[in-house]
Amino acid sequence: MKEAPGTGQVEFDGYVLEKLVSENEIRVMVQCLADEIHGDYHDRQILLVGILKGANVFLVDLMRDLGRGNPEIGRPPMPVEIDFMQVSSYKNEKSTGVVQEILGLRTEISDRDVILVEDILDTGKTLSGLLQQLAGRHPASLEVCVLLDKQDRREVPIDAKYCGMAIPDKFVVGYGLDVNEHLRNLPYIGVVIGRI
Ligand code: IMP
Ligand code: MG
Repeated sequence: MKEAPGTGQVEFDGYVLEKLVSENEIRVMVQCLADEIHGDYHDRQILLVGILKGANVFLVDLMRDLGRGNPEIGRPPMPVEIDFMQVSSYKNEKSTGVVQEILGLRTEISDRDVILVEDILDTGKTLSGLLQQLAGRHPASLEVCVLLDKQDRREVPIDAKYCGMAIPDKFVVGYGLDVNEHLRNLPYIGVVIGRI
């Protein structure tokens, strides 16, 4: 990773990036989300369901924060269960309104308190399709937690109960988010501004 002095631009893995959300800002966001989730569910055993691959890094940090607790506000450690699923993407395709599971959810969710964990809410098609499918399996409750929300891009009305931050309509990478499978391991969130 190479930083061009004074420009705020970084070169990594063949791309030129501009930092949008720093590692520390991400840490604070994740902690706030964990505070909120604990406030709502502290007496229940929740199941966090991460949408692969993008939400992987976020889910791991979120579950670790819930397990750590937050001494500053007296939040005790909270146990959670986790699972993952992977769905087909709508990108560059006409939406059929059906989300196809590539890797299905193996945990039984009937009567469970489930929180779907997603990296970014864009048009909303993926999450609204998933919510419909999972609701059919009769969870006790079903909510959505996203790290980032591009509200201006919404095509399907959907709101995440838990949201880290709203961002402008820019293509972002890092912290699990990719551009053609690259840049997922950038430790902060950046905007792609060019290729090298
Ligand atoms: P939606 O169904 O349009 O809401 O798409 C959500 C999915 O699109 C996310 O799970 C991401 O995989 C992908 N996506 C949307 N915006 C971005 C972005 O800015 N960077 C990387 N992936 C994105
Ligand atoms: Mg994704």
